[in-house]
Amino acid sequence: MSAMHEELALLLQAMPDERRITVAGRQFWQGHWQGQPVVAVLSRIGKVAAATSATALIERFGVGRIVFTGVAGGIGPGVRVGDVVLADAFVQHDMDASPLFPRHEVPLYGCSRFATDPVLNARLAWAAQQVLARVALHLGPAAVAEFALDAPRLHTGLVASGDRFVSTAAECRALQQALPDALAVEMEGAAVAQVCADYGIPFAALRTISDRADDDAHADFSRFIREVASRYSLAMLSMWLTQQP
Ligand code: ADE
Repeated sequence: MSAMHEELALLLQAMPDERRITVAGRQFWQGHWQGQPVVAVLSRIGKVAAATSATALIERFGVGRIVFTGVAGGIGPGVRVGDVVLADAFVQHDMDASPLFPRHEVPLYGCSRFATDPVLNARLAWAAQQVLARVALHLGPAAVAEFALDAPRLHTGLVASGDRFVSTAAECRALQQALPDALAVEMEGAAVAQVCADYGIPFAALRTISDRADDDAHADFSRFIREVASRYSLAMLSMWLTQQP
């Protein structure tokens, strides 16, 4: 699952037999990749679009697990552009039904955080480490130089989702204060995590850091996805799928 076309384009090229199906106004590509049955979906941006897409994947396509790849803004200390964050849990940073419920708690679920699947996470972490150890091989030396990628790292931890593109230093600081352990911010993951928890479907998410969620956050966004994030995702997912039992 990805939110933007640029994030999914390389993966679709790699699926030899994919068939495009439209459900709920969005496109799904059903086929095989690395010998595994796969459904790819372009969710579009935001929590509701992501929740609809995840529900369709489960209800209409019967998928047994969901992996989200895309980009995120880095808000944790030392989480730099070009690093990758593997979410071990998600929170909706814009969920606030206080004073009825504590801030961030999803009403009537009794929790604010939804964990991702530890088995998927262990395998994806391994795949991500393999790719990050050889970035020049996967991106080409020109992209490494252009985006000043310097020994990019994998971080594992909390990711915050909300229906806002965070692009001011002030908003970033407010998020850091409200959720001091959050590593990154994006716009879909917590919604998919909640849908997957509802259905009991294992879920994982890998996000490449495209910006620091500050006043420079919009710079060269599409180009970064094309040249860096989509290539990381392709290499990491391919490495992970080839290791499937
Ligand atoms: N995805 C990538 N960068 C982001 C940001 N700064 N805010 C929200 N979602 C993002």
